[in-house]
Amino acid sequence: MAEIYGIVSGKGGVGKTTIVANLGIALSRLGKSTLIVDADIAMGNLELFFRLKETPVTLQEVLSGKAEIREAIHKSSYGVHVIPCGSSLQGFLRSDLERLNHSISRLPTYDFILIDNPTGLTKYSLLPLKAAKDTLLVVTPDIASLSTALKLKIAVENAGLKN
Ligand SMILES: Nc1ncnc2c1ncn2[C@@H]1O[C@H](COP(=O)(O)OP(=O)(O)O)[C@@H](O)[C@H]1O
Ligand SMILES: [Mg+2]
Repeated sequence: MAEIYGIVSGKGGVGKTTIVANLGIALSRLGKSTLIVDADIAMGNLELFFRLKETPVTLQEVLSGKAEIREAIHKSSYGVHVIPCGSSLQGFLRSDLERLNHSISRLPTYDFILIDNPTGLTKYSLLPLKAAKDTLLVVTPDIASLSTALKLKIAVENAGLKN
């Protein structure tokens, strides 16, 4: 069984994707099989961090019922496996995040699965956490980041997850 962590933040631009990418690479260098799922379906950009060029199957195709989640796994040159979210507006509008939890249960075995979560406290940010064991709450040392993170921390703990 994979340990599944959601990487979350109250405010955008605090470094979630940077951390998730580097954490994924570090874990795979330690010999842990690791998959990163970009669940930031409206604004995700993980594929740019990994310079993935051809991504015909992404999380958008999975969440719109067009593909199986295994088909969306890309093997990055850093060892870590990546599921990019896709970048089309139509793909986003067709995506149903309610399908994510079930899709994740159909993944092959990994030591770690890291979910790059949408920012904030919305159904988009809470739905991907249904699959997670715990969360990693990313903050920067400023009042906007800290105050929004506090709200999210409480919501996540109410959902039974640790930060
Ligand atoms: N530790 C860091 N120090 C300086 N800049 C950083 C750091 N982590 C991330 N950044 C920069 O901050 C910006 C937002 O980072 P990103 O990981 O995309 O945030 P998020 O995923 O939370 O929106 C990017 O330009 C990134 O290069
Ligand atoms: Mg991001």
